[in-house]
Amino acid sequence: MSMRVLGIETTCDETAAAIVCVERSGEAKILSNEVLSQIAAHAAYGGVVPEIAARAHVEAIDRIVARAFESAGMKPAEIDGVAAAAGPGLIGGVMVGLTTAKAIALVTGRPFIAINHLEGHALTARLTDDLAFPYLLLLVSGGHTQLLAVRGVGDYLRLGTTIDDAVGEAFDKIAKMLGLPYPGGPSVEREARNGDPERFEFPRPMSGRPKPDFSLSGLKTAVRLVAERIAPLSDRDVADLCASFQAAVVDVLVDRTRAGLRACREAGIKPTTLVAAGGVAANQQIRNGLMRLATEAGLPMVAPPVALCGDNGAMIAWAGLERLRLGLVDDMGAVARPRWPLDELRAQA
Ligand code: KG4
Ligand code: ZN
Repeated sequence: MSMRVLGIETTCDETAAAIVCVERSGEAKILSNEVLSQIAAHAAYGGVVPEIAARAHVEAIDRIVARAFESAGMKPAEIDGVAAAAGPGLIGGVMVGLTTAKAIALVTGRPFIAINHLEGHALTARLTDDLAFPYLLLLVSGGHTQLLAVRGVGDYLRLGTTIDDAVGEAFDKIAKMLGLPYPGGPSVEREARNGDPERFEFPRPMSGRPKPDFSLSGLKTAVRLVAERIAPLSDRDVADLCASFQAAVVDVLVDRTRAGLRACREAGIKPTTLVAAGGVAANQQIRNGLMRLATEAGLPMVAPPVALCGDNGAMIAWAGLERLRLGLVDDMGAVARPRWPLDELRAQA
């Protein structure tokens, strides 16, 4: 049976809506994927301002949903379900997407599915690459840094996480410190291309530890101390600081993911694939590092195309479709959850 699901994402600073489908043949397709980034609205503050984000979502959501239907060439009555990210994220924005999705579900009489934003990132590789469970997922974004064994839809074992900053947050803070534009990840990656990754020897926190946890704040402080010591910074200094920082992050992620593979083995889980997801997985050096690790471990490695690494509606629509075909739907009582660990998967208060 073919199935089409609308997905809405408003947990942070992207207002996004998409329609994905599975054909009778089993083939998954993205029929539309509309993303409106609020980067310009937040750039002056060097980070996302929750009130500005919530208002911008309200102003844009109807238009973005209408565009998702238009570019898919579909009418609301033709969808089989409506999914929205119900958290974790900024509550004002989450409520905008959740309310919109519930309204569309009520009007069309289709089931409503409340999605955990992290589950959207976690399942994207099945949309793009039709992966089989279980797989080891490195989820690296602005708010999250986790290693998860993805054993099935709704079945996630968290092997490790960060004890302080998220990786994307560290990129954003370093960029801000060096006067580079927000969001920091792409800026740091761009600068690093012209820099010397060996000029500064930054720490690789947690390296070698058996439990696959992460720590980024000491690395961030080390970069700040060097930047202060050699200030005023030339363009070359900035490029070298970015390259040396990025090299340390790659080493840390590879080392921690290697520990994640070991933790899987110890838990009796045999991953089919190594998967990277989340906004930071757009980073080419990080992708290359993980590719080397996958080769070393004799596993294939999958990272979604860059456009599907950052927040988008297709990942929410896809997670909605995966749940809908298993009969895992929600009712109108589903609430917004600013905090919502992936191992508690019911949308309840
Ligand atoms: O998944 P995402 O779009 O939003 C969250 O759920 O957080 O991730 C955004 C994060 C930001 O911290 C951004 O700086 C980072 O991903 N990012 C990158 C790159 N592109 C985006 N970090 C490193 N290198 C990149 N190329
Ligand atoms: Zn995200």
